[in-house]
Amino acid sequence: MSHRFVRYFLTLTFALAVASAQSRPIPRLIKQDGKFRFMVDGKPFLILGGQVGNINAYPDLMERDWPGFKAMNLNTVEYPVYWNVIEPEEGRFDFSGFDRILTGVRSQGLRAILLWFGTWKNGAMDWTPNWVKANPQRFARVIDSGGHPIRSLSPMSKVTLEADRTAFVAMMKHLREVDEADRTVIMVQVENEPGSLGSVRDFSPESNQLFAGPAPAPLVAALKKKPGSWKEVFGRIADEAFNAYYLSSYINEVAKAGKEVYPLPAYINVWNGGYGTNDNFERFDRPGETYPSGGAVAHMLDLWKANAPSIDAIASDNYHQNPITYLEVMNSYTRPDNPLLIVETGAGIAARGFFYAVARYAAVGFGLMGGDWSGAPSGPDQANVGADFRLGQAALPAITELQGTEKLKAAVEERGTGARNLIFTNYDVMVRFHPPARGAAAASPGVFAATAAEPSGRVLVAELGADEFLVMGFGSAVEFRPVQGSDYTAAQLLSNEQGVYQNGVWKTTVHGETAQGDYTGPIVNLPETGALVKVKLMRY
Ligand code: DGJ
Repeated sequence: MSHRFVRYFLTLTFALAVASAQSRPIPRLIKQDGKFRFMVDGKPFLILGGQVGNINAYPDLMERDWPGFKAMNLNTVEYPVYWNVIEPEEGRFDFSGFDRILTGVRSQGLRAILLWFGTWKNGAMDWTPNWVKANPQRFARVIDSGGHPIRSLSPMSKVTLEADRTAFVAMMKHLREVDEADRTVIMVQVENEPGSLGSVRDFSPESNQLFAGPAPAPLVAALKKKPGSWKEVFGRIADEAFNAYYLSSYINEVAKAGKEVYPLPAYINVWNGGYGTNDNFERFDRPGETYPSGGAVAHMLDLWKANAPSIDAIASDNYHQNPITYLEVMNSYTRPDNPLLIVETGAGIAARGFFYAVARYAAVGFGLMGGDWSGAPSGPDQANVGADFRLGQAALPAITELQGTEKLKAAVEERGTGARNLIFTNYDVMVRFHPPARGAAAASPGVFAATAAEPSGRVLVAELGADEFLVMGFGSAVEFRPVQGSDYTAAQLLSNEQGVYQNGVWKTTVHGETAQGDYTGPIVNLPETGALVKVKLMRY
């Protein structure tokens, strides 16, 4: 090969690489017209996520999961990057496993969220390298109120911060080098359920001295409180607030430094607790005891928001099985300064949780904690979320377009609820869950759907136009009626099509029927196995 040809070839390769990097804009979490949007490839995206088990993010194990991810209809896989694996000796980085996993995830057509298991993992330090664990003199641990070190690093330590930040930055720099053109990784979680489990705060002499002093003026001002000592400003939650302040400062520094080399959206996740949110355990619900102290639990959100501007979203993990608490948690984390993002949820309620999250709280992402994904979905609960994601993928452009508006609503079955009414511009919509079959057979009690262990009726209704709706869901009948007080008293179906959005364009797969019963209005039936249906109506 001549030199000229080689030069031409290299220039062409470089130009293609640049063009490809340019053709995929960096993912961004933005607020537009008062609504949060997660932009991936320049388009609004909804994370339909699955999280790999804590000890499963090794290449061999992950590669066994590919069919499981597909079966669950994920578009994003969330997996840990272990500090102790990428930096086994201080200053020596090994990204071989990292690269193999990333290439594999990309080859599956999936996007990824990296979970940085650094200083904190569930309030402890288990994924720090041994050179950190074995050197408590250098990497200070939290000292509990009895004067004993615990299995959690102190957020007060600048030395530990420096070590974590160095490793995180090395990872982000490497990620940029190997993924900028593809943007497989769309978000990064900084630490995992950070906080101190085992003590409400660090009681080392230096820390005690700071605690006795004034609460920092900028924090006090941002929270619109009166200056004073930590106790005076924060009262009974002073110890927790103190820990949250140092923890949020620390994590903000790590995130900020990482974004300086590769500005992907960064978020933290939360082991929630306090003020009655921890309803799974018969224990007093206290920071450092039932949940890691200093994390961004609901009553620490204002503090975290004020003190960690480099964190784009605060995502509470939501494992509650009681719908009241499940909704309370989503409510607390949906704020004008915070989009709802769920990266960990699971079991029974999750399939319904998805409908609430997407329609009522305009979530930018919903991720299921899956552990080992190598087999078939682990039981009906997981399979139900997989079915949600199948429809979610099919409806994604319409959902992301209408989230955060009055045009997207959910009707979700709960115990004691047979139907829900939804109000739209020109129509009232009634969603009946598991309605009895119509006609002669309806007289026999045997035709009622058996009561499932978990309520399973769940429906999204999206108003696409004056007389056009997208209906997505399971086990329900959706009836339309013109709003009261309009010029119309009745409606009928013009078309009823099952289908899917492909590259943003609706494609009909099944033409449904438009006939309707004599005594009802137009009804769309959604089978227990689920359907996505576009309907056109007319009013008369
Ligand atoms: C919450 C943690 O963030 C996850 O890493 C995992 O340990 C789950 N708990 C366990 O279900």
